[in-house]
Amino acid sequence: MDTRAVSGNKAPLELRPEPATHRLELKQTEVGSVFVSNYPPYSLWNGDHLDAFQRALDTPWTSESPPLGLYLHIPFCRKRCKFCYFRLYTDKNAAQVEAYCDALAREIELYGQQPAVAGRPVSFVYFGGGTPSYIAGKHLRELVDRVQAVLPWDRAGEIAFECEPGTLSESKLATIRSIGVTRLSLGVQNFNDHILEINGRAHVSMETYRALPWIRALEFEQLNIDLIAGLIGETWETWRQSVRETIDVGPDSVTIYQMELPYNTRFSRQLLDGALGAELADWTLKREWHAYAFDQLASAGYEISSSYTMVRKDTRGSFLYRDSLWHGADMLGTGVSSFGHLSGVHAQNTASWSSYLERVAIDELPLERAYSTTPLDRLTREVILQMKTGSLEVSYFRHKFGIDILEQFGPAFDKLAQQGMLNTTEDAVELTPNGLLQVDMLLPEFYAPEHRPARYT
Ligand SMILES: C[S@@+](CC[C@H](N)C(=O)[O-])C[C@H]1O[C@@H](n2cnc3c(N)ncnc32)[C@H](O)[C@@H]1O
Ligand code: SF4
Repeated sequence: MDTRAVSGNKAPLELRPEPATHRLELKQTEVGSVFVSNYPPYSLWNGDHLDAFQRALDTPWTSESPPLGLYLHIPFCRKRCKFCYFRLYTDKNAAQVEAYCDALAREIELYGQQPAVAGRPVSFVYFGGGTPSYIAGKHLRELVDRVQAVLPWDRAGEIAFECEPGTLSESKLATIRSIGVTRLSLGVQNFNDHILEINGRAHVSMETYRALPWIRALEFEQLNIDLIAGLIGETWETWRQSVRETIDVGPDSVTIYQMELPYNTRFSRQLLDGALGAELADWTLKREWHAYAFDQLASAGYEISSSYTMVRKDTRGSFLYRDSLWHGADMLGTGVSSFGHLSGVHAQNTASWSSYLERVAIDELPLERAYSTTPLDRLTREVILQMKTGSLEVSYFRHKFGIDILEQFGPAFDKLAQQGMLNTTEDAVELTPNGLLQVDMLLPEFYAPEHRPARYT
């Protein structure tokens, strides 16, 4: 995520408060979230703001409304990876998966009746997970037919779809292509089978290689590969090999995440129980691996498109979902635990399977908590998310918010400049390579003082 890139839009579901450690000082990989996907922190969202979200839904859209996206959460996986914190299930049978797809279609139909959505064009669609490619082709087709009847996406600029390599067959990929997917993202993580196994992945690299010719033959517009720097068992030698194999595959983009351990992963539990420790790469080593991969990719003709992503220079490198969200687009977050944003109000669905199904069954939007942002929240949100691109354009913010960010966030920029994380000029803020590699740890500097002590999720 690459939904994580905005990662998107999955709030890590944490069970305990984060360590008090200031993020910039993190060296060891500890239990807690580092990745910043939204602002203000999710822990501040609550039931009291749901009325504001309903008012946003009741207000008809206009030609001035921002672009609208649709996120569909598919919360199924063959197996839970030991590092994964997303809301997903590994124990649902075919009938339950079908019931979920029905509910998801119904939820989108309910959105389609709201004045803020009815008849509004959809600019981008993102199937995230869990594992969207877990779903049988037939169920995917049925889901999409129902969704397209209320929110047609034939004119959308991007339809992105996350895949776990071992769930792909030639016919399933053909179905994925036929529903209009333009950007296919493969969760490769690593090419070493031993590393994949000890980190709890369900797939082996042969399954990645098996799927690649099918993907090429179907001519998807973009292929992205996700890698994680810092899986258990990684060494310089195995990492170099994974980067080499990734470059040999030649995807249009490569996304690299440094492994983190939010509270609800298997590894986090082991770490807290003292059963894991020395095997974990520290943040310095993860940054070195990240930097190595970026260097190798640059030599192979890729360029930086964000702190996590390199794109091949000769391809259409845009990632509309990410770029739209980082510039304040609206998005309907559908499916269990999904979150979205409409006219300045954030909202998240219930994270409970039964509550999700029950509420949709009585034609209720399954919302759980919301947050009505202030103009300053919205400015801060865009500043921190766009920092992940490696630079900020001061005039963009002046034009959109009427505020000079160099003044508004002067102390934070000064502090980070002194630490060698960024440089400022009259019209730009540019992160240094060192700043870019640890951008998520820098972002709390920009939070309002009252939001800083808050848990992230
Ligand atoms: C929903 S998954 C992608 C699709 C599919 N589920 C898969 O894993 O193959 C999104 C991405 O998040 C990243 N990710 C998951 N847990 C992570 C963690 N603890 N630290 C860093 N990245 C993580 C992985 O790179 C993964 O590909
Ligand atoms: S396959 Fe993807 S979503 Fe599923 S557990 Fe693994 S990383 Fe998480």
